[in-house]
Amino acid sequence: MTEPLLDRHRAVLPSWLSLYYEQPIEIVRGSGRRVWDAEGREYLDFFAGILTNALGYDVPEVRDALQAQLETGVVHTSTLYLIRQQVELAEQIAELSGIPDAKVFFTSSGTEANEAALLFATQYRRSHQVLALRNSYHGRAFATVGVTGNRGWAASALSPVRTSWVHGGYRYRSPFGHLPDAEFIEACVDDLRDVLATTTAGDVACMIAEPVQGVGGFAVPPDGFFGGMKKVLDEHGILFISDEVQTGWGRTGDHFWGIQAHGVVPDLMTFAKGLGNGLAVGGVVGRADVIDSLGANSISTFGGNPLAMTAARATVDYVLRHDLQANARELGARLMTGLQRAAETCPVVGEVRGKGLMIGVELVEPGGREPSPSAAARALEATKARGLLVGKGGLHGNVLRLAPPMTLTAEETDEGLLILTEALTEAAG
Ligand SMILES: Cc1ncc(COP(=O)(O)O)c(C=O)c1O
Repeated sequence: MTEPLLDRHRAVLPSWLSLYYEQPIEIVRGSGRRVWDAEGREYLDFFAGILTNALGYDVPEVRDALQAQLETGVVHTSTLYLIRQQVELAEQIAELSGIPDAKVFFTSSGTEANEAALLFATQYRRSHQVLALRNSYHGRAFATVGVTGNRGWAASALSPVRTSWVHGGYRYRSPFGHLPDAEFIEACVDDLRDVLATTTAGDVACMIAEPVQGVGGFAVPPDGFFGGMKKVLDEHGILFISDEVQTGWGRTGDHFWGIQAHGVVPDLMTFAKGLGNGLAVGGVVGRADVIDSLGANSISTFGGNPLAMTAARATVDYVLRHDLQANARELGARLMTGLQRAAETCPVVGEVRGKGLMIGVELVEPGGREPSPSAAARALEATKARGLLVGKGGLHGNVLRLAPPMTLTAEETDEGLLILTEALTEAAG
């Protein structure tokens, strides 16, 4: 049943658009945190369409809101007209951002959100020099590939921006990784000063960074890290963009935005993925003077789309009403503790790390730190065989990524944990 679809997929879709699993699956039904494939097999979903089904599947509140919008007959109008839901969502996000007098620009994806933020920052500062972190991922278009610090996702060296990469996102393999938190931060801040002095013309536009590196394998710098970095940025008037595409909406548990763990208010924040619980929506929230600095017309035809805005309004309301941030904190801690316990007797686990419901399990060759992408591939198959979907990432493709819908229950956490423990044991063997 799936075979012919796979052949057809390969015939008409790009070769670099990779699929998970030796036998890729087609998901045809979903409910709560569970999905079913075309052959009727059930899975508990710990990757949520790459952290995008923030509430899970078939959520009545979102479905009803979308249904009501569909019944108006209006799916799209364009930003040439007033869109009530767009204004309401912008007001809500501006308020939630903590950025004084913020404005919001909506897009249809995370890539576009970061492209827009980079455009605003470079225009405002009249400079195309940008700082980014090694092991970062920010999207698939020219400027965003240009700031991505991960060879596996850097398809082109052509770029409208000139990027310098600094240390700090990926501590496990950092030359400063052995240092205690405060000294690690100090070493990275020194590196930032050195990079500014040696690789730039001084007038850098901005730094863009993920508070927790997503594609990079859920790599987490110590709390306060970006506070240290921002002191240096402020000395030079360099803007700070927090890429919250994966870390926003409470997923990191302790905070609503990942950057709040660092005691800084960014100039711009970008978001996408979880906001629409599956509908295509992204955007930038930030300082009005920076966003308003474009000297020409700009538009995103689909930005502010009534259907996407409706889904996003319903999703944000659900997240806040049900305090899913607290759920992410509590169940993330439960999952993390269980995995760390399992790791003690599993020689292929190099590190378990993360925040809230964003947990990475870095797999290595037993007895050392050499990355083991083969163990990660085995673990991915072993989890699938037991009815659990997980993600994979990291610079070397050797990190399992766990990011279930934030509506996860304690029972589902334990169910996933049990499967993961068995799968890691199998992957080690
Ligand atoms: C941190 C981060 N920024 C930006 C993007 C790009 O988002 P999109 O795939 O919606 O263009 C991603 C996607 O994985 C991401 O993880």
